[in-house]
Amino acid sequence: MNATRPELTDPFEIGGVPIANRVLLAPLAGIGNWFVRLQAKRHGAGLAVSEMVSSFALHYKNERTLRELLVLHPEEHPVSIQLFGHDAEVMRSGAEIAASAAQAIPLGRAGTPAEAAGAVSFLCTQDSNYVSGHCLVVDGGQG
Ligand SMILES: Cc1cc2nc3c(=O)[nH]c(=O)nc-3n(C[C@H](O)[C@H](O)[C@H](O)COP(=O)(O)O)c2cc1C
Repeated sequence: MNATRPELTDPFEIGGVPIANRVLLAPLAGIGNWFVRLQAKRHGAGLAVSEMVSSFALHYKNERTLRELLVLHPEEHPVSIQLFGHDAEVMRSGAEIAASAAQAIPLGRAGTPAEAAGAVSFLCTQDSNYVSGHCLVVDGGQG
């Protein structure tokens, strides 16, 4: 085996953002929505790329694009959003809007698996004996 060739399990960085491994979900138009990306992340992918998002649609705040294509789950982070377009200024503005969507979690960061586990373990203890039919939302305040 070539010693200089990285393993799929090796971490790397994109623009200073650490990515845990080299298994990535490719951009898949019409398929790679937040739920598909979340499953890829939950099954160990280091990064999942979004469907193609039009920079013009973001720039002009197209309601369907914002509502459907820019939905991000807190557990997806770090997330990669694939923008397309041909106008540098519109691409810049679209990237800004996409970045602010990624930061829209009121607590300002993605939740960790341990934080989700804490809520689950509470429901498994006697401390929750009298809790019945309750939705315990662990979403960093997005609810
Ligand atoms: C249904 C489908 C949708 C795709 N959508 C995109 C896309 O939106 N953007 C992109 O850059 N590539 C897109 N691709 C290309 C894939 O990301 C990938 O590069 C290609 O499938 C080659 O990878 P593979 O050999 O593992 O299939 C798409 C491929 C498929 C099959």
